[in-house]
Amino acid sequence: MMPDDLSLAERAAQVLTTADGREKTALSRHHAAEWFAARRGDRAPIAIGTATPPLHPARPDRPELLSPRDVPRRRPGSRPGQIALLHAVGHIELNAVDLHWDIIARFSHVEMPVGFYDDWVKAADEESNHFNLICECLEGLDSHYGALPAHAGMWRAAEDTAQDFMGRLAVVPMVLEARGLDVTPGMIDIFRKAKLPEVVAALKVIYAEEVGHVAYGSKWFHFLCGRHNLDPKDEFHRLVRTYFHGALKPPFNEEKRAEAGLPPDFYWPLAEDPIGDRGTSR
Ligand SMILES: [Fe+2]
Ligand SMILES: [Fe+2]
Repeated sequence: MMPDDLSLAERAAQVLTTADGREKTALSRHHAAEWFAARRGDRAPIAIGTATPPLHPARPDRPELLSPRDVPRRRPGSRPGQIALLHAVGHIELNAVDLHWDIIARFSHVEMPVGFYDDWVKAADEESNHFNLICECLEGLDSHYGALPAHAGMWRAAEDTAQDFMGRLAVVPMVLEARGLDVTPGMIDIFRKAKLPEVVAALKVIYAEEVGHVAYGSKWFHFLCGRHNLDPKDEFHRLVRTYFHGALKPPFNEEKRAEAGLPPDFYWPLAEDPIGDRGTSR
């Protein structure tokens, strides 16, 4: 079969089985460009198709993956600490590339409006750019992705929700990516103080685009709740309690979460220090 005849699900599986980070993101961006060319009518249509994605995506030999408690912590005020922080972000972005293609391939048997694929392909393309941007920042600091150990277990959310499409939407975009909105302003501050404007610029791109990813999650979660006649808030709470390990950590970026269609009554009841408890303990 000519590679151009591949379905979207097969393209997704191809990204997932590519180990090298830069090769993975190049393939991801190629497939995204092809998808949008087809959607504009500039090439033959691409079918959604079906594919069986690997349970774990292919990854490069480096970085070495360690349990989070074994990953050394460094002070963000020092250059090695800044490099370690950037390396951790790069690892998250590479994981995010795989997560976005995985949801396309793994749930390709579920009938969805074409807009769902538009959103996820666009997000996968943006994650690929995020990884490349962070790689360039690391290289600008005489390091590279793979130079330091990284967290194992990043794929756990994907494994836990491999059979549950709505659980995947609840945990990945609406919990994990939303958490990114909470912590990114603090990271931007660290690199502003470190006088690394190219890193600040990269993180600002990431911050702006991640709002969209959370919004896609919320949009399609609500869509599926409507299809199955479920109350979105109750269902979100049930799924996060089922699949997410631990409580959500305030402070929350309420402004950006609101922009992404995530209201406070979705996340506060799942927080380790809910408003109600805080009120009574004072
Ligand atoms: Fe990202
Ligand atoms: Fe994202």
